[in-house]
Amino acid sequence: MGDQPTDRPHPLAELSAEDQALCRAAFAATANAHAPYSRFSVGAALVTASGTVFRGANLENASYGLSICAEAAALVAANNAADRAVTAIAVTGHSASSRRDPTAIVTPCGRCRQMIAEFAALSDTDIRVLCCAGDLSRVLSTSIDALLPHAFGRASLSAS
Ligand code: THU
Repeated sequence: MGDQPTDRPHPLAELSAEDQALCRAAFAATANAHAPYSRFSVGAALVTASGTVFRGANLENASYGLSICAEAAALVAANNAADRAVTAIAVTGHSASSRRDPTAIVTPCGRCRQMIAEFAALSDTDIRVLCCAGDLSRVLSTSIDALLPHAFGRASLSAS
């Protein structure tokens, strides 16, 4: 499958070795989730042009609306290192509830898509988004342009 975006999930084993590693890093990050309210542990891992991988996990709060998503946490980690040339980000999540299908794909929420789009604009490049099943069995390889078409961005502020 290589690095090409697709509109349907593929088995993890069909991804490049680098993409598989990024998905596994996202899965590993779920171990750091603080999700006592939703019981839905999310992990994200992004890689930058420098080859550095930054991870994030969701961080919930008793004031539910303050919760921080895994993708946002990973982007903040990259920002803290001033390493913002993100080329790809993987996300996965699993529920403590046995009712949720573990093979269901996890995609970034709307706010996270907007945040990823900001980083894409910084580098003037699309960012590949690897949306993984909770058990890593399948991965939907797409991109932020595909997930957030017609995005509002910096250019929107100065459009005339
Ligand atoms: N969550 C993420 O971490 N990323 C997303 O893109 C979707 C939602 C988290 C937020 C909350 O802690 C839990 O998943 C349930 O919504």
